This record gives sequence, C-alpha cells and structure tokens, in this order.
Amino acid sequence: MVSLNPIRVLSNNADEEKAETARLSSFVGAMAVGDLVKSTLGPKGMDKILWGMGRNDGTVEVTNDGATILRSIGVDNPAAKILCDMSKVQDDEVGDGTTSVVVFASELLREAEKLIDMRIHPQTIVAGWRKATKVARTVLEENAGDNGEDPVKFREDLLNIARTTLSSKILSQHKDFFSNMAVDAVLRLKGSKSKVTNLDAIQITKVKGGTLEESFLDEGFLLNKTVGVRQPKRVENARILIANTPMDTDKIKVFGSRVKVDSVAKVAELEVAEKEKMAEKVDMICKHDINVFINRQLIYNYPEQLFADKGVMAIEHADFDGIERLALVTGGEIVSTFGKPELVTVGKCDLIEQISIGDETLLKFSGVPLGEACSIVLRGATEQILGEAERSLHDALCVLTSTVKETKTTFGGGCAEMLMANAVAEEAAITPGKEARAMEAFANALRGIPAIIAENGGYDSAQLCSELKALHKTGNKTAGLDMYKGCVGDMSELGITESLSVKRQVLMSASEAAEMILRVDDILKAAPRKREQDRSHC
Ligand SMILES: Nc1ncnc2c1ncn2[C@@H]1O[C@H](COP(=O)(O)OP(=O)(O)OP(=O)(O)O)[C@@H](O)[C@H]1O
Ligand SMILES: [Mg+2]
Repeated sequence: MVSLNPIRVLSNNADEEKAETARLSSFVGAMAVGDLVKSTLGPKGMDKILWGMGRNDGTVEVTNDGATILRSIGVDNPAAKILCDMSKVQDDEVGDGTTSVVVFASELLREAEKLIDMRIHPQTIVAGWRKATKVARTVLEENAGDNGEDPVKFREDLLNIARTTLSSKILSQHKDFFSNMAVDAVLRLKGSKSKVTNLDAIQITKVKGGTLEESFLDEGFLLNKTVGVRQPKRVENARILIANTPMDTDKIKVFGSRVKVDSVAKVAELEVAEKEKMAEKVDMICKHDINVFINRQLIYNYPEQLFADKGVMAIEHADFDGIERLALVTGGEIVSTFGKPELVTVGKCDLIEQISIGDETLLKFSGVPLGEACSIVLRGATEQILGEAERSLHDALCVLTSTVKETKTTFGGGCAEMLMANAVAEEAAITPGKEARAMEAFANALRGIPAIIAENGGYDSAQLCSELKALHKTGNKTAGLDMYKGCVGDMSELGITESLSVKRQVLMSASEAAEMILRVDDILKAAPRKREQDRSHC
C-alpha cells in the first residue's frame, strides 16, 4: 500500500537542506566570511576590534590578522566554518596569507554562483577549476625568482619579504626596524649546526611600557619570572633541572581533602609527615647535582626555604611554553620523577642573572647550548599593541623560515595574481567546452585580489586593475599595485616581494576548499545526542 503522507527518514531533531537550498546556504556563508575579512586585506586594510564576551568577557584585541579574526568569531554555517578552518591551517603552515586565502576562496564561490545560475553543472565547474589551478601553479612557479645561492641578495630578498608582510600590520610604521630584527633572528637559526630552522628557538617576550621602537633582540633566553626568597640571584655555570611536579603538598589543603581525625594534634602530625615527605623530595631533586630548579607548577614556602638553604635557585610556575622552550635551548629534559638522577639530562648554561626591562624583572639565560636561540623583547604602550605586534612579528618570522627552506620568491601587490589570471584566461581561450567558462571565472576570482587591495586603499580599483592587466598582457611581468602612490608600479623596483610558498599555499588551499564546498548538494544536520540523567552514585 502506498501512503501519501511524506515519509520522514531522519530522526526528530535532525535536519536536511537539499540541493539548491544547500548550495545557497554554502555560498551565502562563504561570501559572508569573505566580506568580513576583505576590508583588512593589503597595506591599506583596516583593523578589527575583537571584544570578548562570555568567558573572555571584556578582553579587547585589535587585529588585522585574518586567522585571528576568524578564530575568534563563532560561525553557524558549515561553509563558513570550512573557510575559517582553512585560514587557521594557513596560519599554522606558513603564517601569512590568512586573509588572502579566505578572500580568494570566497571570490571563487561568488563566481561559481553565477555559473550555477547559468545552469552549468558543479562538476563541470570543478573540472575547469582543476585545470585552471594547474595552469596558475605552473606559471607561478615558472616566474619565481631564486637568490638562495647568493647570501647578499638572499638577505635583501628576506628583508623585502619581511617588509611586505609587516606593511599591512601595526608594525608598518617601523617596518625597516622590525624586518631587520626578524631577518637577523631567522638567519641566526639558519647558520646553526643543526640546520633545522626551529621557530621555538626564537622567543618573543612582551614587556609593557616604552614604545615599539625600543624593542630589541637579545642573545640567549629570557624568562619572565623571579627567583624565590633568599635564593641566589645570579648563578654561573648553571646546571638546570626542569620539572613538572607538584611542590605544594606540605600543608593540608582544607578544601579538596578529607581526613578523619579525632584531635587537632593528629592534623599537626599529618602536616609533619607531609613536610618530611617534601623534604625528602627536595633532597632527591638536589641529588641531581644542580644549582637551578625550574618547576612548571607552584613551589610552596617550605620547599622554597629548603632550596634557599641549599643555595639552589628555584623558580616556580613557569608557563608551559616557557618550560618547553627552556628545555630546548638549555638541552635539558622535563622530568616529573626524581628516583634515578643518572638517567636525567640536566640543562646547562653559562650564566643566569636578573635583568630589568621597564619595571619588569626577568631572568636572562646566557651562553645556552643552542647558541642560535634568541629572544625578542617587544615594548609597547598597551596590551593590545603588544598583542598585535607579536602576531605580526610571528607572521614575518614564519614566512621567513619557510623562505629559508624554499628560497623561491614572487612579487606581491597583485602582481602574482594578475600573472596567474592572465595565464588562466589565455588557457581558457583555447579550451573548448563549458569548462572554459569555469576557467574564466577562476581568472576573475584571481583578479579580485588586486581589486580588493586597491579598493581598500580608497583608489579606483577598476582603473588600476585594467591598467595592471594591460601591462601584464604587454609583457611587463613585474607590474603590480603601488599602494603608497595609488598607481601601478614595478614590484621589483619597489621591493614588494613575497614568498612563493605562501602564494602557492593560498592558491592551492583556496581552490581545494572552494571545490569542496561546491561539490556539496546536501547538508545534513545530525540530531544532538540526548543527555541522559546520570543516576549512578557519586
Ligand atoms: N606595499 C604594498 N603595495 C601593494 N600591495 C601590497 C603591499 N604590501 C603588501 N601588499 C599585498 O597585500 C596582500 C597581503 O595583505 P595582508 O597582509 O593584509 O593579508 P594576508 O597576508 O593575506 O593575511 P594576514 O597577513 O592577515 O595573515 C598581499 O597580496 C601583498 O602582495
Ligand atoms: Mg600578510
């Protein structure tokens, strides 16, 4: 018997959006995310204030970084979520280009919407895009420059790359100063014996106060901690034990522990027992033949006093990042049991001393085994300035390390995009069939990037982009947008260089993500799992 009632296959709270609706909701979500960040693109891009609510109530961040913005907003649209995740991956992989990748993917989907309206099947669009990506990648790689063999020219390239990365950020005012600092730090790593560029060896410490220009690069390692009471403030030939262990159990904590006793004297006995245990632990730690003990967790007064009696410098509550970095640069390992001193490698350095920067006192570790390790001390008036300066510098450092690994470079200011767009359009012109439409759309999406950079600077983007396109067509392959004069200029003269790895990653990730979103024809929302009441004993 056939029932005329619509059949519901999905469970009660599950939901489904089909074909057209699903596609529409993906396009809308992706474009909304693109529109959100596109005003931050380029050297004249604007910043955004992120104002924390809920758990982070009241925190304020001012940023231009695409990944930071997208990480902080909560999205309720699957396509938008994909773009946010992609931006995060871009940040982790190469550090820069997190805005470009989202803007490009959303431009691709904007173009795809038009093609779908023209009744071109998504699979045809995908096929065209794949061809276009291949052409774009080839032309990008063919036109890349490489000065990896020539140290002087390579340094110049690195400086230009750092300047380009920093020019869209808060540090653009002092970009020469900070580019030099970032290049120095990264080249130190390159010269290292291990030949592995490990960004962890560069530590960024923020100290409030002063101006951005008072920031500096220092050798060794800085830890923003103070030494315990009555302990040595300066240690030469330090042997450092780095630990993650509780050193706060010498008192009975009133909350969280339950002890059954019949008199207060018994509590005192327990306390004595705990103290003895703690003293034994301190003895065991000191058996490692050390003069510095650094713990990730708190060190209470009693063990602190014991360490002071033994003349050991003890530092408590070092943050986790700090501890890991310290272990890396001093060559020690992080331990949490102390039974076998002979098996533990302790960290070493020539000198530990207290230094003061502004009104903060920090500990400086000099002469560390990982000689290339260094610290950058950032100074700035407010928390927000310091936060954004750190993010910008981190972007630059990431890009520089990836350029050290792959020394090829390309030009920014819309030059690389226009180069790719023209190559794709030319290929489209000789491709028969509907795929050619998709390739043209791809080229248009690529041209969208210089258009947005120009728009953000308040210039006539249609005029500038058509000039740029014409210049490229006539064979000027280094033409790009000069955003300081508001005209078209030669990127190699202006030194607006970018790393090839960043540009390639932008191209590949954005086209893959856009393709993935385009292939969707159904959005299924799973029903949330019911929360059963817990009736078990507690
Ligand atoms: N001086 C300049 N003139 C013209 N274009 C520039 C200049 N400096 C940078 N650009 C261009 O600006 C774009 C980069 O902008 P921006 O740094 O805001 O975004 P992003 O690198 O994609 O993302 P984010 O830095 O937020 O991770 C690149 O396409 C680059 O070529
Ligand atoms: Mg950038």
